[in-house]
Amino acid sequence: MRSAIGKIHGSASSFEFEFVITNSKSVKRGDYIKVWNDKDGWVLGQVSDILAVDNPKLSELYKVKEVLIAKARVLGKREAGKLRMPTSPFIPGDNVYIAEDELIAETFGFAEDGAYIGLLGDTSVKVKLNPNTLVQKHVCILAKTGSGKSYTAGVIIEELLERNVPLLIIDPHGEYVSMKKPAKIKDNEFGVEPKGYADKIIVYAPPTSPFIDSADKELSLDGVDLTAEELIELSGLRSPTAQALLYQALRDLKNYTIADIIKEVESIRHSGKWTLIGALSKIEKSGLFKQRPTDLRTLLVRGKASLIDLRGIEPAYQNLIVSRVISKLFELRKRGEVEPGMIVVEEAHNFAPEREKTVSSNVLRTVASEGRKFGLGLMVISQRPARIDKNVISQCNTQIILRVTNPNDINAIKKGIEGITAEMVEEIKRLPTGSAVVVSPELEVPVIVRVRVRRSQHSEAKSVLEEEKEEIEAKEETAVETKEVKENEERKGFLSRIFRSRKP
Ligand SMILES: Nc1ncnc2c1ncn2[C@@H]1O[C@H](COP(=O)(O)OP(=O)(O)OP(=O)(O)O)[C@@H](O)[C@H]1O
Ligand SMILES: [Mg+2]
Repeated sequence: MRSAIGKIHGSASSFEFEFVITNSKSVKRGDYIKVWNDKDGWVLGQVSDILAVDNPKLSELYKVKEVLIAKARVLGKREAGKLRMPTSPFIPGDNVYIAEDELIAETFGFAEDGAYIGLLGDTSVKVKLNPNTLVQKHVCILAKTGSGKSYTAGVIIEELLERNVPLLIIDPHGEYVSMKKPAKIKDNEFGVEPKGYADKIIVYAPPTSPFIDSADKELSLDGVDLTAEELIELSGLRSPTAQALLYQALRDLKNYTIADIIKEVESIRHSGKWTLIGALSKIEKSGLFKQRPTDLRTLLVRGKASLIDLRGIEPAYQNLIVSRVISKLFELRKRGEVEPGMIVVEEAHNFAPEREKTVSSNVLRTVASEGRKFGLGLMVISQRPARIDKNVISQCNTQIILRVTNPNDINAIKKGIEGITAEMVEEIKRLPTGSAVVVSPELEVPVIVRVRVRRSQHSEAKSVLEEEKEEIEAKEETAVETKEVKENEERKGFLSRIFRSRKP
């Protein structure tokens, strides 16, 4: 066993204690420690803070130049599958040791076959979560932009794909498409090997998408029974008269298509109808609605992830697609016509905003609150915790929080997440990229996880404009390069050209 790092000092309870650090180099905040308790055996704790104090007596007693006192909270010991606090307090003077990885893993009770999301704190303990809990009790991933949300979501998607869980990914930036390819990684501390998921990911795009050619399949909808609210949002119809006429036309229609509504409006005697007909025709011509639409049953299939690439699609159409697809899948799931699975929603604040209502808000709320009864899980990802519907966030039992600094977002996290301490909040503000505070029903205490590297390739979110710009820049660069190569070759002459052409 490693030597002791300190001795318990002052008053100690079963929940917390302080210890004087006798070996200052070997302990830091966040470290997992262990103390022997005669009744309970080895009990696990964690250093929550370290204070330097001016105390010559302690300095002499422990033979240390600088007196450092560590505060520790007791995490407990695992007994009958549960984390339990010791029944008797610790004794001042008892030795404190750094806990070994085995003891930490055993105390947290990570199942060998759990979903591997990363390493615990500074240890090499693999954090493995029960995939059923992840899927059935919903997950949210919150963090400021660029701190690793989509990367982490990708890690969970990989773990679920390995277990053949049916997935639907709502991907507004098309950033999960790269998961088809293996990551360019070398040996790493996580023990992760590169792997692509080309055989499991099916990319869908609406017919109007600028990326339709690179998609595997087209996603079209039936356009049957669109509500007045949906039609108004899609068309941006402002005129109160036109809106009133729309409600009037829909009153007597059942099981209708957009063409049916247009016919109905045409029969109305009112000069304001032409604005409405214009708006409806625009929706009809959008190309999203087809007589033979995609069979939505094919979107939630065992062993596959259906990815809806929404790049370049107008926000109102994105909302409608999300709302229609998810509500239909929820219905199908209720009737047992699709298997239990999980829906991943990137940029969830756009689809379920806190303040305004969008056509997709209701369905996301419903799946968040009722999905678990029917085996339909939700994973929501957002960079604005303050702007996403609290009813959705509060239903997520596994919460993964990476760095957040905005005070409004911090407040939203404090309010929305049970068991978050003031210390954790301070921690969240300072997390390095790729590290997360994870709160989960299985963990009993929130932990910091260094999210593992990805098996599959990660691509950062880019807007269409950015991509177009990059494409133009790349073309320009190629043109410059070609010109330079040509000039160089001309300068170097014939031999160098032959040499160049032999290179692979
Ligand atoms: N666990 C990790 N391991 C290694 N690198 C990581 C990890 N997490 C994030 N990164 C790096 O940080 C970058 C940003 O991560 P990511 O794209 O996931 O951020 P994001 O929070 O989704 O940002 P945005 O809000 O812009 O979508 C990634 O490109 C990747 O290089
Ligand atoms: Mg992202």
